[in-house]
Amino acid sequence: MWIQKLNIKNVRSIQDESLDFCPGFNIIIGDNASGKTSLLESLSLLSSGRSFRSSHISEVIKYQQPSALVNATLNNNNSSIKMGIDKSQSKTSIRINQKDIFSQAELSSHLPITIIHPNSLELITGAPSLRRAYIDWLAFYIFPDFYSKWKTYQHVLKQRNICLKSPKHFYALDKWTSELVINQPEIIKYRHQTVELIKPILQKITSVLLPELDINIELYSGFPNDIQTDSKSLLDFYKSKSDIDIKFKRTVTGAHKADLKINLGDTSASQSASRGQLKLIAISLLLARSEIILETKSSKGILLIDDLSSELDVINQNKLLKFISDLKLQSIITTTKPLTYDLDQAKMFHVKHGSFSEYQG
Ligand SMILES: Nc1ncnc2c1ncn2[C@@H]1O[C@H](COP(=O)(O)OP(=O)(O)OP(=O)(O)O)[C@@H](O)[C@H]1O
Ligand SMILES: [Mg+2]
Repeated sequence: MWIQKLNIKNVRSIQDESLDFCPGFNIIIGDNASGKTSLLESLSLLSSGRSFRSSHISEVIKYQQPSALVNATLNNNNSSIKMGIDKSQSKTSIRINQKDIFSQAELSSHLPITIIHPNSLELITGAPSLRRAYIDWLAFYIFPDFYSKWKTYQHVLKQRNICLKSPKHFYALDKWTSELVINQPEIIKYRHQTVELIKPILQKITSVLLPELDINIELYSGFPNDIQTDSKSLLDFYKSKSDIDIKFKRTVTGAHKADLKINLGDTSASQSASRGQLKLIAISLLLARSEIILETKSSKGILLIDDLSSELDVINQNKLLKFISDLKLQSIITTTKPLTYDLDQAKMFHVKHGSFSEYQG
C-alpha cells in the first residue's frame, strides 16, 4: 500500500497543496520553517487524527481558518482507496471511499504509519513513561484484554493513593492493596511477552544499523527482580513495604513504574551511546514495533522521517536509507539539504513558504 496523491488544506503554513508521490522514496527538501514538518503532520492527522508534535488541534489548523483538511488516494495492489479527514476545534469528519466513518481506528488501519522525528531519541533518553507507552501500545495491539486490565489497575492505583494521602482513609488500605495485585501479574506477563517478541526483530535490525554495538533490552516489571510476580507474592510484598508507601503518601512500587531497560553490554545505552547511536537505537525500536504490527497484514505501512540529518552523520543517513530501500516500502523523508545517497526509486520535492514543487536540482 502506498499514498499516490495527497491534498492538504490549512495545516499550519500549508494553504492548499497537492502532491503526487511515488511508491519508493519521496524526499522533501526545504529550509527551516518552509513547511516540511507540516507535511508530515498532515499525514499524522490523517492516520491517527492527531499531530505527532502537538496535542492541541488549534495549533495544527492554519491561523484564522476554521478547519484542517487532508485527503489521500491510496494505492493498494492497484485498487484505489480515497480517504479524508476534516478536523475543526470541535468536530472531526472522516470519509473513506465517499462513506462517512465514525471510527478513527479505521483510518489508522488503512494508513499505518511509523514516524521518526528529531524527538524520537527521547524514547531512549527520556522518562520511563515513554518506554512504557512504547511497550503498552504493542501490548494493547497483541493482547485484547491488556487494555481493560491496565485501565482497572489505573483506577485501583488511584484509589489506593487516595487512601495513602490521609490517615483518615487508612481503613480502606487493605482492600485496595488486595485489589491492586489482581491484574498486575497479567499486566507484567503481557509486557514480558511483548518484549520477548521485540527482541529478535530488534536484533535483526540493529545487526544492520548498529553492528558495532551489543544492544540488549529487558523489561523492568516495576518490582525488584527477586520478587515473584504472582498475586500472593505481590500482596506479601506490599504488606511488608506499606510503611514506605505511607511515608511517601503514594504507591511507590508496581506496574506503573515499569520500564524498558536498554543496555549496551552491561551499561545503560542512554549513558554510554553517542547521540547518533541513540537515534539509531530509537529508530530500530520503532521499526521493530511496526514490523510486529504489520506482519499479520499484507501491507507494509508507510515510513515518515522528519529531518533525516538530525543527529545522524552522512554515513549513518546512508546506512539508514539503504536499510529502508531493502524494506521496499514507501517513505516520505524531509531534509534541509539534498541527499548524497543514490536512491533507485525516488521523487524529490522542494518546499518553500508551505508550497511544494518538483525539485529541479
Ligand atoms: N497554525 C499555524 N498557522 C500558520 N502557520 C504556522 C502555524 N503553525 C506554525 N506555522 C508556521 O509554519 C511554518 C512551517 O513550519 P514547519 O515546522 O513545517 O517548518 P519546517 O520546514 O519543518 O522547519 P524546520 O526545518 O525548522 O523543522 C513556520 O514558519 C511556522 O511558524
Ligand atoms: Mg521541521
